[in-house]
Amino acid sequence: MIRLLYFSTARANINRRDVEGIVAHAATKNKALGVTGALAYNGRNFCQVLEGPEDVVHELVMAIEADDRHSGFKVLDEKEIDKPHFPDWSMQLVNNLDFSTIINAMND
Ligand SMILES: Cc1cc2nc3c(=O)[nH]c(=O)nc-3n(C[C@H](O)[C@H](O)[C@H](O)COP(=O)(O)O)c2cc1C
Repeated sequence: MIRLLYFSTARANINRRDVEGIVAHAATKNKALGVTGALAYNGRNFCQVLEGPEDVVHELVMAIEADDRHSGFKVLDEKEIDKPHFPDWSMQLVNNLDFSTIINAMND
């Protein structure tokens, strides 16, 4: 199992309602895939943690990177883990201006 953290920049015309739609769809799909995590959005940038089986997370990350609703996609960190930090969140939106909740999860 791995935990992966990336950062990106939202497309200019994306609003909070769009992001809520992304998260609602992601939560359903991630649940089916056995993926958990959190997405932080500060009105301009995304920072997301994804946890799950390595091959599943890597495939999902390729799809997310190709999504034209954001750009400047950059993986910041990736590590092997024994257990998820967000076991109950198939995907949770975190409105967090400094992204600290998300980034600190990498130290778990
Ligand atoms: C910032 C951002 C985060 C996303 N996170 C996820 C995610 O965690 N899980 C997911 O399935 N899709 C996520 N998506 C959407 C995917 O890029 C893609 O649209 C979706 O997986 C396609 O779903 P489908 O196979 O049902 O068409 C995200 C998109 C963006 C822009």
